[in-house]
Amino acid sequence: MTSAAKASLDVLKAHGIVEPLDAAIVLGTGLSDLAGSLSEAVSLSYADLPGFPQPGVSGHAGRLVVGRSHGRRIAFLQGRAHYYESGDPRAMAGALECLSALGCGALVLTAACGSLRADLPPGSLMLVADHINWSGLNPLIGVASDDRFVSLIDAYDPALRARFRAAARRADLLLPEGVYMWFSGPSFETPAEIRMAGLMGADAVGMSVAPEAILARRLGLKVSAVSLITNYGAGYQGGAPTHDQTKLIAATGAQKLAMLLGSFIEGLDTP
Ligand code: HPA
Repeated sequence: MTSAAKASLDVLKAHGIVEPLDAAIVLGTGLSDLAGSLSEAVSLSYADLPGFPQPGVSGHAGRLVVGRSHGRRIAFLQGRAHYYESGDPRAMAGALECLSALGCGALVLTAACGSLRADLPPGSLMLVADHINWSGLNPLIGVASDDRFVSLIDAYDPALRARFRAAARRADLLLPEGVYMWFSGPSFETPAEIRMAGLMGADAVGMSVAPEAILARRLGLKVSAVSLITNYGAGYQGGAPTHDQTKLIAATGAQKLAMLLGSFIEGLDTP
């Protein structure tokens, strides 16, 4: 464990957070309010957690909220650091190492995305089945041990995906699966890049998820990811994404995602 992860684990301990988590949920753009649903919640600023993305750099609230929901120990990470903020694909490494050291049954990544499928209009949810990382970047470049050769077969855990599909059925929500393609951002894609992504097999594009999933798999965490579609990709079906639209649609779609996450957490006690 890195010294930063150890130090943040000590801060958690000092706040009585010692039990392993059933799930940790990273909340993407416009989705931070979902953390309000926890009872017995302890809320800590990332500024007090060494190794977590520091507010100011990432321009978000940056809080870790740990509490209970449906009898389960849940952590919400309100905000993430993106590669495009610093040029560091390991931006979430410290936070993930701390969660892994505490013990965490499932890591759930949520993110706003652009859609490349007509049946995934803005406001839809998509369960990530796999990703394409065509960026040339990898958060494990420079790691000097053989555990950098991480297998990414079933990177998005099949059992967790089955739980999410069941959760969607219980909540009466559509949750098609698809392939997420990571783009570095912060500029949106060109229409030509979106056409390329579609030809390569992508169903959605976004600026996070993939590096976090890679880091988490190296730590042995089980990973799942849910995309909230905020727009069609640039040039596809008239898509012309803007950050304001991303935030607006994420805020309205957050309710759907909250229902899905609630149902997912509720279902965690079934084997
Ligand atoms: N592209 C990349 N990231 C995104 C998009 C998009 O169209 N929408 C929301 N996040």
